[in-house]
Amino acid sequence: MKAAKVWRLGMGDLHIMPGSRNRPHIKKPMWIIALVLFVCVFLICAYIYPPESSSACYVFSSRGCKSFTDWLPPIPVREYTDEEIAARVVNRDILNSPPIVSKHPKVAFMFLSPGSLPFEGLWDKFFQGHEGKFSVYVHASQTKPVHVSRYFLNRDIRSDQVVWGKISMVDAERRLLANALQDPDNQQFVLLSESCVPLYNFDYIYNYLMSTNISFVDCFKDPGPHGNGRYSEHMLPEIEVKDFRKGAQWFSMKRQHAILVMADHLYYSKFQAYCQPGLDGKNCIADEHYLPTFFQMVNPGGIANWSLTHVDWSERKWHPKSYRTQDITYELLKNITSIDVSVHVTSDEKREVQRWPCLWNGIQKPCYLFARKFTPETLDKLLHLFSNYSTP
Ligand SMILES: *[C@@H]1O[C@H](CO)[C@@H](O)[C@H](O)[C@H]1NC(C)=O
Ligand SMILES: *[C@@H]1O[C@H](CO)[C@@H](O)[C@H](O)[C@H]1NC(C)=O
Ligand SMILES: *[C@@H]1O[C@H](CO)[C@@H](O)[C@H](O)[C@H]1NC(C)=O
Ligand SMILES: *[C@@H]1O[C@H](CO)[C@@H](O)[C@H](O)[C@H]1NC(C)=O
Repeated sequence: MKAAKVWRLGMGDLHIMPGSRNRPHIKKPMWIIALVLFVCVFLICAYIYPPESSSACYVFSSRGCKSFTDWLPPIPVREYTDEEIAARVVNRDILNSPPIVSKHPKVAFMFLSPGSLPFEGLWDKFFQGHEGKFSVYVHASQTKPVHVSRYFLNRDIRSDQVVWGKISMVDAERRLLANALQDPDNQQFVLLSESCVPLYNFDYIYNYLMSTNISFVDCFKDPGPHGNGRYSEHMLPEIEVKDFRKGAQWFSMKRQHAILVMADHLYYSKFQAYCQPGLDGKNCIADEHYLPTFFQMVNPGGIANWSLTHVDWSERKWHPKSYRTQDITYELLKNITSIDVSVHVTSDEKREVQRWPCLWNGIQKPCYLFARKFTPETLDKLLHLFSNYSTP
């Protein structure tokens, strides 16, 4: 279209040119201009709509179809920033390093809580007899917890305030990871809340986590307002909206991935600056987007894309269902442990349901090892039922 317009303008210009008495001499350059323009338009069209049938290809090349676009220089990729180049080499080397083999591998259970843990008694029963195969870390952001179980005594780490939705939540997760990484025997790092309970006995959970090389980080693409609607273009050029992901914060991570998170400054700083509730009229929740987006960009094949912690959003309220004493039955717990398909629903008007089988080393397995949210009053009933429901 543009070329045609230029051509017409050119004609007009020629007509009002004062030298019209030399008409026969003007005709020659006009034909040359026409020919050049025709060739240009033809080449542009051929570039935008590359020939698909092989007969058309031979117009351009006798060697076949692919070669036409091969003549043109490749579309340039974005030039990486200094920080990005540095991040990419560090991440690549961490991912390529073989894992450090520990003689006494342990699972780090990292509790993120405002204060005391109402289910310490249940966890005590869960840990009993498995000394040497786990370690406990508690980040209490508001009040110093009172511990009732020996497994939790002196396991509080230095903590700081946590504001819901803000980067301070991610900071608390990183603080827990850093503390737990100090023990070289810790191989898997599970993040839990004060309202979480175990769904299986220790051996089942230990083997589930230790016999796989992926991390369980929840991650899905939500084109709706509670997903991509929270993305900020200030995150460019490093984070594009096509890489923006969402997921529940409750992860279980292998050691290599915990190191990756420790090494990250680049992507973390983007979320620190541009992902917080109320910024630019958006309601970005840092802990729901930072890790899913980070792993999507750095090692998408290394994560399972679902969280090991079950929660019931079926009531479609602002908060998930909280189980009370009357809800706690053997049937409820068995229902949760029988789920072997993970489900994500987008927040746009389509409400698209994404279902993936929970594949553990290629085998479909129960998705959930933990569940929330349980109110403190349910402790006695759970203690009573535990040895019954937790046997796979
Ligand atoms: C996990 O291990 C399997 C088999 O050893 C290997 O094929 C796969 O690439 C590994 N995956 C990751 C994410 O390291
Ligand atoms: C998780 O999703 C990513 C794509 O976002 C995919 O590449 C990866 O293979 C998935 N992980 C598993 C274990 O299927
Ligand atoms: C357990 O699952 C069955 C089948 O989905 C359902 O009918 C039942 O109400 C559930 N029970 C509880 C206690 O959630
Ligand atoms: C667990 O409790 C349920 C219901 O109370 C009962 O039917 C079942 O036999 C018990 N299972 C075991 C393994 O004790």
